[in-house]
Amino acid sequence: MYNKTYVLAGIIIFVALFTTPFWTGIMSGSYQRPAVQLPANEKECVEPVEYMRAEHMQLLNDWRDQALRNEARVYVSSTGKKWEISLQNTCLKCHNNTTEFCDKCHISNSVYPYCWTCHIEPKGKK
Ligand code: HEC
Ligand code: HEC
Ligand code: HEC
Repeated sequence: MYNKTYVLAGIIIFVALFTTPFWTGIMSGSYQRPAVQLPANEKECVEPVEYMRAEHMQLLNDWRDQALRNEARVYVSSTGKKWEISLQNTCLKCHNNTTEFCDKCHISNSVYPYCWTCHIEPKGKK
């Protein structure tokens, strides 16, 4: 006959190990970051890179609201630099291959923003 205690312990250990990536992900607030293609001739983003990694969705929302609701087309960054508020003319001027940048990271995190049904998606040089 089998021993109930061992079977139960076995199941608990199995479940704990199996879901470890999930728990560590939740607790560190981290996500998958595949090797994305960064702009070759630029060193800095509109805001510090850690901020961009964590908050670019919020920033884009704010940009859209600023542009469309307040007609404000200039963004002043935390370092005092001025940028045109434009997904197309600012973000995608530097990040000019969405397949190798936005999409690559989004797909590995199972996020699928719906922006490209309206905004033009640059695919870089072939
Ligand atoms: C002037 C060029 C430039 C513009 C404009 C720009 N970026 Fe960036 N972006 C960069 C560079 C260069 C990096 C990498 C910086 C680093 O590694 O320190 C970067 C990094 C990022 C990252 C983090 C990638 C990673 O390494 O994890 C995200 C996300 C991002 N940008 C999104 C955006 C969005 C959204 C916009 C528009 C609101 C934008 N960028 C505008 C040049 C730019
Ligand atoms: C380094 C990884 C990475 C890169 C590069 C990146 N994103 Fe994201 N993006 C994410 C993650 C992760 C989420 C989901 C975050 C969340 O829901 O909290 C996200 C969410 C978004 C969202 C919100 C979608 C939603 O359904 O909530 C938008 C819009 C977005 N990204 C636009 C962009 C654009 C545009 C670019 C390229 C210029 C880009 N991202 C590049 C990781 C990245
Ligand atoms: C149904 C169509 C549609 C979708 C989907 C859409 N947009 Fe837009 N967006 C527009 C239009 C139209 C404007 C106004 C263009 C203008 O007046 O310059 C705009 C303007 C913007 C602006 C400010 C001005 C500019 O030229 O960039 C940002 C930023 C922006 N959208 C981001 C996003 C992001 C991020 C997504 C995906 C989460 C998204 N949009 C999805 C239609 C759309």
